[in-house]
Amino acid sequence: MRIDVVTIFPDYLAPLRLSLPGKAQETGLLQVATHDLRDFTHDVHRTVDDTPYGGGAGMVMKPEPWGEALDAVATDECVIVVPTPSGVPFTQADAERLAGEQHLVFACGRYEGIDQRVVDHAVTRWRVEEVSLGDFVLNGGEVAALAIIEAVVRLLPGFMGNPESLTEESHGADGLLEYPVYTKPASWRGLGVPDVLLSGHHGNVAAWRRAQAEARTAERRPDLLPPGTTEEST
Ligand code: ADE
Repeated sequence: MRIDVVTIFPDYLAPLRLSLPGKAQETGLLQVATHDLRDFTHDVHRTVDDTPYGGGAGMVMKPEPWGEALDAVATDECVIVVPTPSGVPFTQADAERLAGEQHLVFACGRYEGIDQRVVDHAVTRWRVEEVSLGDFVLNGGEVAALAIIEAVVRLLPGFMGNPESLTEESHGADGLLEYPVYTKPASWRGLGVPDVLLSGHHGNVAAWRRAQAEARTAERRPDLLPPGTTEEST
């Protein structure tokens, strides 16, 4: 997979050189490049923003540098991902879908956002997805892009040392939150481990984990419960 990130803060993406994504780049599974949006400006101040038409606080990112940047990095087969708090909520299903793509281009906006014509024009040439990480506001798209990239690339075949850990996780096939997990020692600061986990009885362990996952999901994320499940029935 190839990933290009366009941003005014390329250094924000430095963590991608670390850990597993870094290793994936060494092995050739992943190629990541960052591009400074200011390299696509033509004035001495390398201006990327201006005041909003219609008035109001803050600045809006100018369309020209974005148009040139996308012309330079986008390809016929790419998906352009625009992280924005006004986007469609990003989910594990989106991560799985994007993991099947060859080329992702992240357009990281700052300030009050990017001139709408950039997306309106891009959709006539490429697939474009405006996505939100949740109902909160970050200073820009960079941290959101990092999170989305991590969610996607860990799903690439060969990325994880132990692919089994992908199959047993929160927001997995059954759509429930993860059950609580424990490791040694069996007693820590006066707290024990649920007896069933020490019993060696695989059927009972599986049933306990399922019940815990359902109870946790009912309490924290009732919206994730399968249709027809009542919170009382879990
Ligand atoms: N940019 C700023 N806030 C964001 C959010 N919540 N999700 C995605 N991108 C963002």
